[in-house]
Amino acid sequence: MLILALETSCDETAAAVVEDGSRVLSNVVHSQHDLHEKYGGVVPEVASRAHLDWLTPVLREALEQAGVKPQDLSAIAVGNRPGLVGSLLVGVNAAKALSWSLGLPLLGIDHVQAHLYASALETDAPPRFPALGLVASGGHTSLYAVESPLKMTRIGSTIDDAVGEAYDKAAVMLQAGYPGGASLDKLAQQGDAARAPRPLPRSLLSPESLDFSFSGLKTALLYSIRGFPVGKGDASAFARDIGDLSPQERADIAAAFQEAAIGILMTKLRRADARMKALGSAPQALLFGGGVVANSLLRLEAAKLGAKLRLPVHLPKLAYCADNAAMLAGLAHHRLIAGESDDLLLPALPSSLVQ
Ligand code: KG4
Ligand code: ZN
Repeated sequence: MLILALETSCDETAAAVVEDGSRVLSNVVHSQHDLHEKYGGVVPEVASRAHLDWLTPVLREALEQAGVKPQDLSAIAVGNRPGLVGSLLVGVNAAKALSWSLGLPLLGIDHVQAHLYASALETDAPPRFPALGLVASGGHTSLYAVESPLKMTRIGSTIDDAVGEAYDKAAVMLQAGYPGGASLDKLAQQGDAARAPRPLPRSLLSPESLDFSFSGLKTALLYSIRGFPVGKGDASAFARDIGDLSPQERADIAAAFQEAAIGILMTKLRRADARMKALGSAPQALLFGGGVVANSLLRLEAAKLGAKLRLPVHLPKLAYCADNAAMLAGLAHHRLIAGESDDLLLPALPSSLVQ
């Protein structure tokens, strides 16, 4: 079965053709990073207009690379939640037009659920269930008890920033470059956390909590870079500027941030594993998804954690960590074989429906 999927939830315009849920025939991603760079983050209105410009060429390229004609397709899938609604609407309306004109089933896919499916692409070893899943991206940091590709329950989530958002802000503070996460990762690899001026806090909330908090880490990072503010009211000022730090000092602070951020994720995964065991549904695998899963330290630590817990670790290939349409097409296969589809009233929604 061949499924074409469209992804326009944020700042990537993407289309992919996937066969039988895992064989990726094409995976075309047009990133809008250059458009948003000067603003230091994604501007929703700019993103939705760029999707309009890029969707048709990206879609054509995906069909061409796959060597597939529209008549060969079995269904049209689209990420319809969560995301920036103006951006989602571009993909959702294009998918409806394709579905209606080709007479093919339409499948709305949850972007977060699809991130957790990404590790099943291009592999002969699908995960065993129940699994413990972590989605770590720019918009989400959540843990899931996963019963199947389509059935999962959220067991923990961030109470403030997503870890990718914290990475993006940290990269701005350290002037590491844009897009932030990958640049900060690179800078951190040149540093040594032990040499940073002070250790950065790992907020773990209450001892049992499976939730995350990254806002305190961001503030602590700011103080590490610029010192504590001195003076009161209008006279209040930071002790120093980023320019006062040597390149090596910046890299050491980046390494301290990276250790703290990834350390928090690993601690929560250990807690979640213990929680699932205590509830009688011991995880049989660890699943990872989302842009932050491209992180060098996360990939190392995930492998170590898997060895410690004696669980297979399913990390998506690098091409399927960040936003892409192949993960949507793969997951859509499971909806299609379960006999599910959507009608032309499919909405674009800002939030995930996975609770
Ligand atoms: O999954 P994704 O492409 O989009 C969302 O669904 O949010 O994730 C993007 C996030 C951004 O915050 C980006 O900074 C982060 O993933 N990211 C990384 C790395 N590569 C991308 N964070 C840490 N280390 C990386 N190597
Ligand atoms: Zn994403």
